[in-house]
Amino acid sequence: MNQDQLKQMVGEAARDEVLKLPAGQILGVGTGSTANCFIDALAAYKDHFSGTVSSSNATTERLLKHGFKVLDPNDVLSLPAYVDGADEIDPAGHMIKGGGGALTREKIIASMAKQFICICDSSKQVSVLGNFALPVEIIPLAQGVVTRELEKMGGKVTLRAAKSTRADLQQTNSEPFVTDNGAWILDVAGLKISDPIKMESHINQIAGVITVGLFAKEKANILLVSNASGVQRLTF
Ligand code: A5P
Repeated sequence: MNQDQLKQMVGEAARDEVLKLPAGQILGVGTGSTANCFIDALAAYKDHFSGTVSSSNATTERLLKHGFKVLDPNDVLSLPAYVDGADEIDPAGHMIKGGGGALTREKIIASMAKQFICICDSSKQVSVLGNFALPVEIIPLAQGVVTRELEKMGGKVTLRAAKSTRADLQQTNSEPFVTDNGAWILDVAGLKISDPIKMESHINQIAGVITVGLFAKEKANILLVSNASGVQRLTF
């Protein structure tokens, strides 16, 4: 079974999980290839929900294409569940997210939801977070100062690049990747994150940081994880 099939399988399991919620509520929807499988699997049942809140422009586009109603988070008072993927998840349900660049909106929607349902294949399960470079969304003018602070913590910091082809120069330039919020992302390699709550709070204190892609306070409540023998459901 390949990774796409594992993602599809867990997307379908997440569809079955959210259909257990009473009808007529609003659902939070994440970003990434696994979240896309979930959206596609849920499309035929979209009327079960009165609307969705989306964590990125890409997810909004996909939801609208399937005919889901997408609401402004400011108009939503209660959100029973948020479904999203992860780049890494530890045995307590703490996650690294933001590989797709949507970490800030993902964390906002996760903070609104009663339950975070994480969906992934078993390659994302780790004993200690940090093998996947930690994404940190920043205000562009703070790149230098935030980089130095993250280096003091032992991180190897890289500004995330967007590949852009400058036809006029006949060369490929690597310009910064720009998030849906008009900000930049630093990817921090080499951190061993044994205390995710402490590290999340420490990085949050650095001036110029918008969001760190450590989801420790907003950790998963339920994990649906797929491998070749099926989907396992864990709670934290
Ligand atoms: C998006 O910014 C991320 O947080 C994704 O949820 C995460 O990168 C998982 O993506 P995949 O499902 O594509 O692996």
